Amino acid sequence: MEENKRPSWSSYISFIIAAIGSAVGLGNIWRFPYVTGKYGGAVFLLTYLLIIVFICAIPLCLELALGKYFKKDTVTCYENISPKLKWFGLLNLITAILIPAFYFVVGGWIINYIWLFLTNNIPSDFSVYFSTLNSNPYVPCILTFLFLFIVAIFPFRGVNKGIEKANNFMMPTLAIALILLAAVALSLPGAREGLEFMFKPDFSKFSKELILTALGQALFTLSIGMGAMVTYGSYLNKEVNIKKSAYTLIFFDTLVSIIAGVMIFPVVFTYGIEPTAGASLAFISLPQIFLNMPFSIPCAILFFLLLFFAAVTSGISLMETSVACFIDNFKMTRKKSVVVLSLIIGCLSIPSALSFGVLENFKIMGKTIFDSLDFLTSTILLPFNTLLICIICGWFASNIVKEAFGEGKFAGLLKFLLRFVLPVVFTYALIVGL
Ligand code: PHE
Repeated sequence: MEENKRPSWSSYISFIIAAIGSAVGLGNIWRFPYVTGKYGGAVFLLTYLLIIVFICAIPLCLELALGKYFKKDTVTCYENISPKLKWFGLLNLITAILIPAFYFVVGGWIINYIWLFLTNNIPSDFSVYFSTLNSNPYVPCILTFLFLFIVAIFPFRGVNKGIEKANNFMMPTLAIALILLAAVALSLPGAREGLEFMFKPDFSKFSKELILTALGQALFTLSIGMGAMVTYGSYLNKEVNIKKSAYTLIFFDTLVSIIAGVMIFPVVFTYGIEPTAGASLAFISLPQIFLNMPFSIPCAILFFLLLFFAAVTSGISLMETSVACFIDNFKMTRKKSVVVLSLIIGCLSIPSALSFGVLENFKIMGKTIFDSLDFLTSTILLPFNTLLICIICGWFASNIVKEAFGEGKFAGLLKFLLRFVLPVVFTYALIVGL
C-alpha cells in the first residue's frame, strides 16, 4: 500500500533535469569561478575534471543506486543496509538541514538584487550597499524567509506537480540566460585574456590545497554527501542505468561551471578586478561592473535571475531530502513535513543571516556563524559522509555496488577505486580539512 504511494518521476528526462537542477547551483555560478580564480585558473580546472570523473562520480553512482534499490528516504536506506547504520542516515539528514541555513541567506540577497535592478533603484557603491543591507537586523532575515517560502512551495506541491514543473521551467531558462551572458562577455575586450587564464594551465600554481579545494568543490556541486541524490534516485524506475545517468549529470554540471567561468573571466579581465575577489565577486564587484557594461541593466537582471533559478532548484533538492525523511520516518504527511521543515530551517538561518551585521563579531573558532556552517558542512560533513558511504557500500553492500556500476571493465576499475583509493583520499581530505 505504502509502496504505491511513493512518487516517481514521470519520465527519465524529468529525473535528469531535476538532478541537474540539484547539482547546478550557487556552487557552479558563484563559487566555481572564484575558486578557479583563486587557484590559478586552468590548473585548477584540469585537476577538478580529473577528480570529478574518476573520484566523485563513484559516490554519485552509489547514492543514486542506493535510493533506486531501496526506494526509500536516506535514513531508511542506510537502516536497510544495517539497523546499526541509522545514525549515519540521520547525520545525512542533519547535513541536509544545515546547508539551507546558510545557502538560503545567499538566496535572499539574490532576490534583493533582482528587485534593485528591476526597479532601477541602483546604488552607486555596491560595497557600501551590501554592508548596509546586511547590518540591518531584520532585512536579511526577511529576505531569507522569502527565499525559503518560494523554495518550499515546490516540495509542498509534490514531486510531479512541484519539483518536476519547477525544474522543467527553470533549467532551460537558466541555460538560455547563461549562454546569452557568456556571449556578451565574449564580446568584451578582455575576453582573450579571460579565456587564456581559464584554459591555459600554469603548472607552477599546482598545490596540495588546490587538490583539496577541487575535491570539496566537486562534492558540493554534485550534491553528494547529504542524501539529495539518494532521494532523487529513490523516485527512479527499475530500468534506469545509473552509471550513464551519473556521467550525464556530471557532463552537464561541469558544462555549466565552465560556461559560468567563460561568462565571468572576460568581465574580470576587461574591468581589471581580481579574479580571486572571493564571495563578494557576485554581490559587490560584478554588479558594480554591470553598470559600465553594454546592456547593463538587462545583463544584471539576467545574471541574478540565473543565480536565482540555480539556487531555487538546488534548494528544492535540499528540502526534498529532509521532507522524504520526515514522511518515511516520522509518518508525517508531505504538507506537514514541508511546514515543519520550513520552521526549522527558518529558525536556524536567522543567526547566519545576521552574521554579516548584528552578529558580525560573534565568532566560533575565528569564523562567523555563516562561515562556520559553510565550513562544517562543505569541509567536514560532506567528505565524512562520502567517506562512509564508500566504505559501507564498497565493503558491506555488494548489491548496491552492482546496481551502481553494472558490469564490465570500467565497472571493475570503479570498484577498485571505490574499495582501495577513495577511502584514503577522503580520509586525507578530512584530516587536512580539520
Ligand atoms: N549542488 C548545489 C550547488 O552547486 C548545492 C547543493 C549541495 C545542493 C548539496 C544540494 C545538496 O550549489
